[in-house]
Amino acid sequence: MCGIFGCLGADAAGGVLNGLRKLEYRGYDSAGLAAIFPEHDGPIETERTTGYVADLVSKANGRFDGAEISIGHTRWATHGGVTDSNAHPHSSNDGKITIVHNGIIENALELLERVENLDYDVQSETDSELIVHLLDHELKTQSSGGTPLDAFKSTISLLEGSWAIAVIMTGMEGILIARKGAPLVLGRGTGTCSFHGDCSHFCVSSDVQPFYGSCSEVAYLDDGDIFYISKDGIEGSEGLRIPEFEVLEGVYEEGDPGIFPHMMLKEIHDQPNALTNVLGGRISADGTRAELGGFKLTPEQMRGLDRLNLVACGTAYYATLIGANYIRQFTGLTVEAFRASEFPASEVCGPNTLTVAISQSGETKDTLDALQEAKKNGSEISSFCNVIGSTIARMTGNGAYLYAGAEFAVASTKAFTNMVAALLLLALTISEIPEKQRKKIVREIRSLPAMVSRQLVEEDGSIERAVEILDGAKSAIFIGRGISAPLVLEGALKMMEVAYLPCLAYPGGELKHGPIALIEEGTPVIAVAPSDSTLPLMESSIRECRTRGGKIILITDHEGPITKFADVVIQTQTTGNVVSPMVNVVPLQLLAYHLAVRKELNVDRPRNLAKSVTVV
Ligand code: F6R
Repeated sequence: MCGIFGCLGADAAGGVLNGLRKLEYRGYDSAGLAAIFPEHDGPIETERTTGYVADLVSKANGRFDGAEISIGHTRWATHGGVTDSNAHPHSSNDGKITIVHNGIIENALELLERVENLDYDVQSETDSELIVHLLDHELKTQSSGGTPLDAFKSTISLLEGSWAIAVIMTGMEGILIARKGAPLVLGRGTGTCSFHGDCSHFCVSSDVQPFYGSCSEVAYLDDGDIFYISKDGIEGSEGLRIPEFEVLEGVYEEGDPGIFPHMMLKEIHDQPNALTNVLGGRISADGTRAELGGFKLTPEQMRGLDRLNLVACGTAYYATLIGANYIRQFTGLTVEAFRASEFPASEVCGPNTLTVAISQSGETKDTLDALQEAKKNGSEISSFCNVIGSTIARMTGNGAYLYAGAEFAVASTKAFTNMVAALLLLALTISEIPEKQRKKIVREIRSLPAMVSRQLVEEDGSIERAVEILDGAKSAIFIGRGISAPLVLEGALKMMEVAYLPCLAYPGGELKHGPIALIEEGTPVIAVAPSDSTLPLMESSIRECRTRGGKIILITDHEGPITKFADVVIQTQTTGNVVSPMVNVVPLQLLAYHLAVRKELNVDRPRNLAKSVTVV
C-alpha cells in the first residue's frame, strides 16, 4: 500500500528514490517525488508517474541531483483513478508547498467544499491534495510570528480520518511530518551510510525496512505526532513528547529472488528455514517443553482467562482459525478467531479477556483498529507480528515475533506457516496436556522443517498435471475436514490472489448442503485429505464430487483406496494430524504459483493488491 519516503541531507532525492525502491514490495500503482535545492526560491521541482519507481527514475532523468531536501511517494489508489495527476506529491497552486500523504481523509467532501470556496484550483481527484491547499491557506492567514509548524498543526486539526504526511516548502529547510492511523518512522544516520558515504541525515519512511544499512537510529512516531525535522533536530509542540531515537539493528533484506524466478517461489522454499527460526529457542532439547516467552500474562494467568480472542485478516485470519483449533484442543479455554474487520469488541472483550492480533506486516489497519477496540473494552492485548518494530508489535508491547524473515511477495506464504507454528506453540504454552501427548506433539514440531523440506523437493510431476486441470477452468472448489477445513480456505485465497481463479472453499461435509450444485463435468475439486480421523469422511465427499463430473486433485499422504477416486494425487509427507497444515499448505501454495506462472501473470505483484494494507 502507499509508501512515503523523505530525506534531508546530501543527495536527498537519490536517498528518496532508493527508499521508494525499498518500499516497492508494499504494492503501488504510481510514484512521485519532489525536491528542494540549496538557495532554492521558486516552485518546487516535482515529478510523478503511473507505473513503477523505475519509470519515475527515468522520468526524473537526473534533474533532482544535488537536492538536499526531498520527499517521495508510492501510491495505491483509493480516492481517484490511477493517473499521473492523482499521483503524489500534490502541490499548492503556486507550487511552493508540496505534500505526500498516506491514509484516508474521511471528511474530504466537506474539505473540498471549503477549498473550492477559498478559490483554490483543485487538480486531482484525491483527498490528499486538499491538505496542501488548506495548509497554504493557513500559512497565508496565520498571525504574524506564526511558523510553518503552527500552520501545519492548524491544518491537521481540520482533518478526520487517518494520515501519514510529509511536507516540504520553498524557504523551509526541513520537512513537516504528521502521523495518525498510518505508519511513519524517522531514521537518523551519522557516519557512513549507503546513501552518501560520510554524512549526517534524517529520513522519514512508512516502514523501517529501507533504513537498514542507511540509518543507524530509528524513532517511532505515535498517533497524533506532528513534528518539524531539520538539520538542527526535531521540533514539536511545547510540552509534548519528542520521539526518542534508538539504535537500529538488523540488516536490509533485498527483495531478490536469487536462483528462483519469483519472490513467491523463493519464499515458499524459505519455509523450512523460517520454521527453524520460529521454533528456535522455544522448544527444549529433551523435547518435553515448548514455550513462547514475551507475553505479559503468564501461562497460569492465560489459563484463568474468561476468553481468548484472535484477530487477523486474510491469510493471517486463516492461520488463526487453525490456531484456535489447537488452543481449543489442548486447553480448556474459550477461544475464537475473528476477521479483524468484523470484530465485535464490545461483545467479546472485557476484564479477564485477552485479544491477540496476528499480522505479518504488523501494520494492517483493520487489525490495528480491532486491537484498539479490544483495549477500549477492557481486554488485555498482545500480538504475533513478523515485522520487527511494526505498529501492532509496538502498540501491544508484548507477544512474539514470527521470525519468518522479510516477506516481499504480496501473497503471504512463509508468514502463514510461521503463524500456524507460533499459535501451536502458544497452545502448548498454555496447555496442561499429559506429558506423553505433549512429547509426541513436540517431536512432530521438531521434525517440521525437515518434513517441509522434503515436501518441497518431491517432484513427480503431480503439481504440473494438476495445473493442467486448473488451467482453463472457470472456477475451482477446495474441500477439507477437521484441521484441514481452515487450511483449504488459505489454499483458495492463494489461488484467487495470484492466479485470478474464482474459488470456493468448504468443509467437505458442507458441500452437499449447497455448493455441490456448482460441480459439473470438469470442475476442479482440490481435496486435502491427510490420513487422520477425517479420512473416511473425506473419501465420501470426494466420491460425491467425482460422481458429478468433478476432476479431483487429491492432496494426501495416504496410499490406500481413496487415491482411486482422484484424477491427480499430490503425495504429501506423513505427519501427525496436529502439524499437517504446515506441510500440506506447500502443495496448495505451489498450485497457485504454477497456475499463475502458466497464465503469465505478475505472481509477485497481483493486480489490485498491496502487501501492507494500511486503510480500512
Ligand atoms: C494473502 C495476504 C493477505 C494478508 C492480509 C493480512 O496472501 O497476504 O490476505 O494476509 O492482508 O496482512 P497482515 O498479515 O500483514 O496483517
